[in-house]
Amino acid sequence: MAIRLGDTAPDFTAESTEGTIRFHEWIGNGWAVLFSHPKDFTPVCTTELGYMAKIKPEFEKRGVKIIGLSVDPVGDHRRWSKDIEETQGHAPNYPLIADPDRKVADLYDMIHPNALDTLTVRSVFVIGPDKKVKMTLTYPASTGRNFDELLRVIDSLQLTANHKVATPVNWKHGEDVIIVPALSDEDAKKQFPQGWKTQKPYLRIVPQPR
Ligand code: BEZ
Repeated sequence: MAIRLGDTAPDFTAESTEGTIRFHEWIGNGWAVLFSHPKDFTPVCTTELGYMAKIKPEFEKRGVKIIGLSVDPVGDHRRWSKDIEETQGHAPNYPLIADPDRKVADLYDMIHPNALDTLTVRSVFVIGPDKKVKMTLTYPASTGRNFDELLRVIDSLQLTANHKVATPVNWKHGEDVIIVPALSDEDAKKQFPQGWKTQKPYLRIVPQPR
């Protein structure tokens, strides 16, 4: 069963490179990114996992934990981590779930048999403190993901959660944002006493709240 936005992220217990993970307990009260990659000791995955390690401080700044997954065992993850460090300059500094029996992969619909019948595809789930799925993304095995884009989406999600604003096309941190349509002008006055620019009644622009 596909996981949709707003669904509760399925809970699970699994082995990882950092011991047994009880997923919801591991997430705690913050945000999380769960991402799958097809296979250990493969080129695109090597670059992805090294880059995730490099930008982990950016996730931490935003209160987001990161965790990877593939259908390979913990021993492979550990041996491959040394290659990742050697070639990318960063070893994974976050847990990698070992899912050889595909328990988690099936729970999260990470195996797309018409693309790769035995391996996980490149899935990403951004999960909020309420354990609800806030974003999903699926890439094919041959295309490395843009993990900087995840940070951009998380910035947008956190702004919406905290300030009742949405973010326009190609928005980047620091740029103007949009007052969500659900907020009436009357309520918007309380939230944004400095005012806003109305381009259309449904398109109200404000500086990004800090
Ligand atoms: C890769 O990470 O390079 C890869 C993994 C599985 C299939 C194709 C490419």
